[in-house]
Amino acid sequence: MLLANKKVLITGGAGFIGSNLAQRLVSLGADVTLIDSLIPEYGGNLHNLHAIAEQVKLNISDVRDPHSMKYLVRDVDIVFNLAGQTSHMDSMHDPFTDLEINSRAQLSILEALRHNNPTARVIFASTRQIYGRPDFLPVSEAHPLRPVDVNGINKISGESYHLLYQQVYGIPTCALRLTNTYGPCMRIRDARQTFVGIWIRRLLEGEPFEVWGGEQLRDFNYVDDVVDAFIVAAINPKACGKIFNLGSKEIISLSKLAELLVNLNKEGCYHIHEFPPERKKIDIGDYYSDFSLIEQELEWQPRTNLRIGLMQTLDYFRLHGEHYL
Ligand SMILES: NC(=O)c1ccc[n+]([C@@H]2O[C@H](COP(=O)([O-])OP(=O)(O)OC[C@H]3O[C@@H](n4cnc5c(N)ncnc54)[C@H](O)[C@@H]3O)[C@@H](O)[C@H]2O)c1
Repeated sequence: MLLANKKVLITGGAGFIGSNLAQRLVSLGADVTLIDSLIPEYGGNLHNLHAIAEQVKLNISDVRDPHSMKYLVRDVDIVFNLAGQTSHMDSMHDPFTDLEINSRAQLSILEALRHNNPTARVIFASTRQIYGRPDFLPVSEAHPLRPVDVNGINKISGESYHLLYQQVYGIPTCALRLTNTYGPCMRIRDARQTFVGIWIRRLLEGEPFEVWGGEQLRDFNYVDDVVDAFIVAAINPKACGKIFNLGSKEIISLSKLAELLVNLNKEGCYHIHEFPPERKKIDIGDYYSDFSLIEQELEWQPRTNLRIGLMQTLDYFRLHGEHYL
């Protein structure tokens, strides 16, 4: 296999997607190092790594520190760059922290690579949030970028630096614009990572959960499919210098999603509420993605249907929930 014995660095490696990626890379024989700051408000959680703790090196450090990054990027073949501040609301309350992590630190990671390891492949975790409220659906990569929050603006700059460093310095980067991702190891303590997290928590605690609006359409990817996308982007040379949307053809309204979760859990209930005004201002309305580019160029497609993915997620948190509350 192409990744056996490859030296791989995952920033944000104790987080939701990073830890799922680490598990897969370990199973493929890669030599995996993780960087994570484990800031409590973010999705990093040591329990995410319990199954592979002996097989990875975990470096508790902050990607904002250019001195540690300089050493950490040396000698690696691939950098999966997932460290990020993910909460849209937090980015409005504390815009400078979002700027530091999602923009400035991204530039310093790329500078560390330029000076110390310019041939490493770099896959950046970007987001569909950068499109803002869609002008058309499904949203393709050609859609204008018009973010509705500070997080979206900073993620655009993080993504743009990656593409620029490919064009100017030849560092082989690629950006994946992720849609709503869910699955084992996600943050369920609150809605900082995704509203689905807090819905799952409430369901498992036997409490009703709140659906805001309810009619908004969304697409969702199960985390294993997102991990597949990171891996194909890292091994296929056609990915270099490109941006790809991820997405799903299973499009669902939030109220239908809530209904599906309650059915799968066999008990529970939810209430539909008006959007709180503060949230309404940064809501993007309906979104689903056109991901035909990555289908054609890298032959990636999501494989997990929503029902199965949600069932597996609920099963995971029934067993491991105590580590996530
Ligand atoms: N989960 C989604 O639905 C989704 C959607 C779009 C984009 N993304 C992007 O994917 C990436 C991973 O997201 P996730 O859902 O796994 O979230 P997550 O919060 O679980 O993972 C991010 C990780 O980065 C770490 N981190 C944050 N700031 C850091 C810093 N300064 N130094 C070192 N580590 C730091 C956190 O501790 C956390 O473990 C993020 O960049 C996010 O913007 C996620």
